[in-house]
Amino acid sequence: MPDPLLAHPGPVQTWERQPSSLLARHEQGLTQIDAVAPDILRVRFCPSGEPRPRRGWDPTLELPATELGVSGDDDALHLFVDRLVARLDCANGTLAFAIPDGNEFAEDLAPPGWRAVTLGETALGQTPDTELPPGPARIGLFLSKRMSPDERYFGLGQRPGRLDRRHRRFTNWTVDISSPGHCRGDDNMYQAHPVFLAVRPRLAWGLFLNSPWYSTFDVGASDPNALTLFTLGGELDYYLFAGPTPAAVVDQLTRVTGRPALPPLWALGYHQSRWSYASDAEVHAIAQTFRERDIPLDAIHLDIDYMDGYRVFTWDPQRFPAPTETVAALHARGVRAVTIVDPGVKKDLTSGYRVAEDGLREMHFIREPQGEPFSGWVWPGESLFPDFCRTDTRRWWGDQHAALLDAGVDGIWCDMNEPAIVDRAFGAPGEQARPIPLAARHGDAGEAQQAETHNLYGTLMARAAAEGFARQRPDRRPWVLTRSGFLGVQRWAASWMGDNRSCWEDLETSLPQLASMGLCGSVHVGVDIGGFYGDCFAELFARWMEVGTFYPFMRNHTQCGSRPQEPWAFGPQIEALTRAAIRLRYRLLPYLYTLAHLAHHRGEPLLRPLLYDFPDAADLHQIEDQLMVGPQLMIAPIYRPGVRRRLVELPPATWYDFRTGMRIAEQDAMIAAAPLGALPVFVRGGAILTLGNVRRSTIEPLTELTIEAYPDPDAAGEWTLIEDDGEGLDYRNGGLAERHFEIASLRSGATLTIAARAGGYRPPPRRLTVRVHLPDEPADLRLDGHAHIAWRWSATDQAAEITFDDDGDTHRIEIIP
Ligand code: GLC
Repeated sequence: MPDPLLAHPGPVQTWERQPSSLLARHEQGLTQIDAVAPDILRVRFCPSGEPRPRRGWDPTLELPATELGVSGDDDALHLFVDRLVARLDCANGTLAFAIPDGNEFAEDLAPPGWRAVTLGETALGQTPDTELPPGPARIGLFLSKRMSPDERYFGLGQRPGRLDRRHRRFTNWTVDISSPGHCRGDDNMYQAHPVFLAVRPRLAWGLFLNSPWYSTFDVGASDPNALTLFTLGGELDYYLFAGPTPAAVVDQLTRVTGRPALPPLWALGYHQSRWSYASDAEVHAIAQTFRERDIPLDAIHLDIDYMDGYRVFTWDPQRFPAPTETVAALHARGVRAVTIVDPGVKKDLTSGYRVAEDGLREMHFIREPQGEPFSGWVWPGESLFPDFCRTDTRRWWGDQHAALLDAGVDGIWCDMNEPAIVDRAFGAPGEQARPIPLAARHGDAGEAQQAETHNLYGTLMARAAAEGFARQRPDRRPWVLTRSGFLGVQRWAASWMGDNRSCWEDLETSLPQLASMGLCGSVHVGVDIGGFYGDCFAELFARWMEVGTFYPFMRNHTQCGSRPQEPWAFGPQIEALTRAAIRLRYRLLPYLYTLAHLAHHRGEPLLRPLLYDFPDAADLHQIEDQLMVGPQLMIAPIYRPGVRRRLVELPPATWYDFRTGMRIAEQDAMIAAAPLGALPVFVRGGAILTLGNVRRSTIEPLTELTIEAYPDPDAAGEWTLIEDDGEGLDYRNGGLAERHFEIASLRSGATLTIAARAGGYRPPPRRLTVRVHLPDEPADLRLDGHAHIAWRWSATDQAAEITFDDDGDTHRIEIIP
């Protein structure tokens, strides 16, 4: 039903072409279209006629200008960049897009519309405000696009609903949704990702609504044929990505919002956490137990109890009397320390707490619209909240991390940064959320209101931490973990999905959730393995660890008071399975770390839905319980009790069973056995997997590298392993080791070529084992043209195998049938 109250722009009256933009003035308002890149257009519609100025904290990057082609006739303006064309209807201002071959998409069903909105029309009713603040916050913009019947919609961030977002309505407003037993629908969460990918046969495109304001996407919920965008803020601003594949859309999105930071290698290892390891002694006992039980471990997280009365940037003098020694002792065991930091600063002006005193004096805290510092309650009691939109506040906050970094801390965990605030002491009767007033002013000159900046709070806190880290340790990569975020947060932080529950449903949910995050550019993601709320139990824990092995970020974490959740907490059988799962993680690290480099270069997610690698297999696009881990591996997790086998759809490719090494007969689907501890994992034909030796932590050198080649009988395969020093910044200046592998498959033999190592980084000396999986035992194997006595045939997993010292040179392995 058209909304009779909506104002519309009316006909285009004049237009002007600038080198990379078109400005079309309507009877009311302005349409501005910018050529962002040969495959990206940005569309703004401003009822006021004036686009709003770029903010200092804008989540987008400014890309070098691209020329925009424009031609006009009486009816329409036609816009061109290399890979995208648009048509602006001069009579009413509607837009339609197409790729140059004429395939149309993202067509407006009606011109953009706007009208005054009230708080009651939004889901912001829980704020203390009774009305939206005057100004742009009260002007809502609406735009509906045609939904093609054969199109599916993906993305929209961490919401735990279905991978395919059609038929739902989504709110983009960051909230602490933590609540035990909370039944999660599809709606808003800790993070806001107003972006979707539309995928139809032979075409994928994407749309990012560049609005940090409260916004909603109605993806065919009210009208099955209409995808309606709504945003507060007085302006419509979106980026249109031309695809034509899902991978291309993710690349386009992350060119605009930034590529994911490259984490240090240790961050891809196993992390152990709980709320809280509450003393130096307990932390050491945990680290020691990992070593005694021979379970790899790279990081321990210190939750809020390391602080002195929850005062951020302090250490409890009784429980952590010598933080530098605590951290040094962890380092001596090869374990990194990660400390939690919350944004709420205890309003303590009597005990010499400098963070509160300096912050108040230097005006770093958010103020009420009337000018008083805003306060609310969190862990430390009444607290003040930094205005991270201010440049000097981000710097000041970043500098506070010296209290942690000087003690040797390796990573910063930003929590409660939606921000989560209540109106009285935690747990006191009648406790309610106490959000920051929507009219509170933010920014260097107080130029924006909370209504505009709310969604960015988590991102800007993470950014302040990462930038502080980079200033204080200029030779090391920062590592920051955040709960809240907006599109672009991946430039500064990894994310976990907040407080899940120790139940099967939340294990299952993690799959589409993390896959959707990856499509939005946040690739270093995980959920609390074992579940946060409630007590985990043996079978669930074992299954969760199996899956967690493949989460880009692998951390076991749980709430205070829950039953122990360390790998040995469920008895020897589960401990053995968990040890094996974590060891597999460490074997996979050379592959996963290469994927982290690829993500950093081109936004490619580590964990992704099938549609990413198989865009033409439309019948597989709604599958959310099978995911790809990079282009070479597919996992088919078990997420229900008692299940010991499952159906696995086999996307069009040659597949191998990772555990048996056997090639799977060509078929569309199969039943995979999955006893406890054995998650079904498949390797795509043509893959060259690089596996390392198991280490106690990444601090130990990689002394063995195994190249597992899985020939595709119909095609050659290749892979480039990327390594570096794991922690520094030399990789930016050529300090990489790149090793290219190619597998050419003959009728029943194969040739594997290992190119000479390229780049300025030299890995420590190591043995190289090459294993080529083949259907039959070959007659011979030649290394660099010579018969080699030391090769062997492994009948158990059908692989011809040879080991030699890696000199970094070119080698050629021929397998003679
Ligand atoms: C929040 C976090 C959780 C943490 C707890 C205590 O609930 O999401 O991970 O353990 O606060 O800091």
